[in-house]
Amino acid sequence: MPSIPHIPADRLPALLRAMPKAELHIHIEGSLEPELIFALAQRNGLSLPYPSVEALRRAYAFTDLQSFLDIYYAGAGVLLTEQDFYDMGMAYLKRAAADHVLRTEIFFDPQTHTARGVSMETVIQGLHRACRDGAALGVSAELILCFLRHLSEEEAFETLEQALPWRDLFIGVGLDSSELGHPPEKFARVFARCRELGLRLVAHAGEEGPPAYVWSALDVLKVERIDHGVQSVHDAALMRRLAQDRIPLTVCPLSNLKLCVFPTLQAHNLGALLDAGLVATVNSDDPAYFGGYVNDNYTQTFAATGLGAAQAYVLAKNSFEASFAETRLKRDWIAKLDEVFEQAAR
Ligand code: ADE
Ligand code: ZN
Repeated sequence: MPSIPHIPADRLPALLRAMPKAELHIHIEGSLEPELIFALAQRNGLSLPYPSVEALRRAYAFTDLQSFLDIYYAGAGVLLTEQDFYDMGMAYLKRAAADHVLRTEIFFDPQTHTARGVSMETVIQGLHRACRDGAALGVSAELILCFLRHLSEEEAFETLEQALPWRDLFIGVGLDSSELGHPPEKFARVFARCRELGLRLVAHAGEEGPPAYVWSALDVLKVERIDHGVQSVHDAALMRRLAQDRIPLTVCPLSNLKLCVFPTLQAHNLGALLDAGLVATVNSDDPAYFGGYVNDNYTQTFAATGLGAAQAYVLAKNSFEASFAETRLKRDWIAKLDEVFEQAAR
């Protein structure tokens, strides 16, 4: 679209919800709603340390990334069977379809499950079946396997070996979990191997960690996208690098708010990232824990920061361009985006 049509401010929330978009930063274990945690616990004969759904939800008061991860890994403990992984995946994909997500690249944390005796096959097959059935909902869905950075590189290599029989069922690898004290370079060799295997590469960096972690994710791991990356604003040379090389950042505003990366949503730097010419995108990270799916991230952030229709268009377009989908698909999705904006201006 050559120029973005004028859209009155009162139509912006509806437009943000209706516009086609891609979600590139969603941990499937972070989409497990308390209701589903309780249902799966009951189905699997497990007891939970919370008396009710409401009591569990009340525990979702986080002070930093680690305080969240402790409860997030505990919640994932109810996932045992292939059907559990399928049900979790389908529940997310239905929510994504309702938010007009046409493409999603879903992170999963196999080590959280294999450490409990759940097989890699159970995890991948359940999630893959959900991704396949996502097509009937109008959502193109692919999987990205994440290594847990608080564990060793040797354990990441073992995880990769366990997953390779299902190499065709995931498109890439990522790096997540506790960032501080676990710099990207700890995983240099396993990422090099994944690169040789033709896997797409992403990593969480600059969520709580310093700009140096973003540099090493780019230069040592050779990742194609940075997950979060909001701390990059503290390094002008890094900002220039990200803009020049068009390295996408998968930004997650409600996550940043709930994990106290920013004191308020008004203080979020999404607008500054866009103003600096970075390829920023908006995503939900762990929607069941952070109070919103991708549309909530758009509408709440726009309401708080005063971003407008022009930025909405850029963010949605960025989300498609930054995806690992085929060029032909990206072109079709962006054409749909243009149509929605042209209609909204009428
Ligand atoms: N795993 C799930 N959500 C995460 C986040 N926001 N940062 C790091 N690891 C995660
Ligand atoms: Zn994340």
